[in-house]
Amino acid sequence: MTEKTDSKKILVLLGSPRKKGNSTTLAEEIIKGAEAAGATAEKIYLHGLKIAPCQACYACRKPNSRSCAIDDDMQVIYQKLIEADAWVIASPVYWFTMSAQTKLFMDRCFALFNIHKEALAGKSIAVAMSYADADPFMSGCVNALRTFQDAFAYVGANIVGMVYGSADKPGDIKSNQALMAEAEALGRRLVRNPNAS
Ligand SMILES: Cc1cc2nc3c(=O)[nH]c(=O)nc-3n(C[C@H](O)[C@H](O)[C@H](O)COP(=O)(O)O)c2cc1C
Repeated sequence: MTEKTDSKKILVLLGSPRKKGNSTTLAEEIIKGAEAAGATAEKIYLHGLKIAPCQACYACRKPNSRSCAIDDDMQVIYQKLIEADAWVIASPVYWFTMSAQTKLFMDRCFALFNIHKEALAGKSIAVAMSYADADPFMSGCVNALRTFQDAFAYVGANIVGMVYGSADKPGDIKSNQALMAEAEALGRRLVRNPNAS
């Protein structure tokens, strides 16, 4: 049964090239919880989109700047990021940190921070990650988690929770039922009680 709350918008940024991969599977579980709590969710597969690296032109820092100077698919995403009540960021661990697709997205959020500070301050964020090695330390997942913690603390956003686990082949993560339940609960919390840690 769907629990009625005000309809919040969740934007889900997927940073794996595998459409049915483990980090995406975790994000789907977060979506399930968020939708059960009355939210609507939109998924964006970052892989395959035209998202250039930040070129450090600092156009976004000029007075009265309205957007990032790079005209690519991030322009559409910026608007969605501003409008969403909460973000979910999902990434595999690649070389002991987040995937390149996810990092490109993060770097381009630099412009959002300079132009729309209010879009980030207080934004609720959930993180989902998967890795093949035994634990968050061996895999390097901690490096990415720490990056998210530092970056979102810096801009005043609120990380509501982070779910992560070990799995290799696409979908393997489903067998970790405790983690799947944790992800689903995080989705509900993202909507109903984002300020509780
Ligand atoms: C290019 C590449 C680099 C990887 N680097 C790591 C790593 O540093 N540590 C690790 O534990 N797993 C690493 N893996 C394994 C993935 O993190 C793992 O398979 C993960 O579950 C994939 O998530 P996905 O299904 O969401 O893409 C790597 C995989 C690839 C393809």
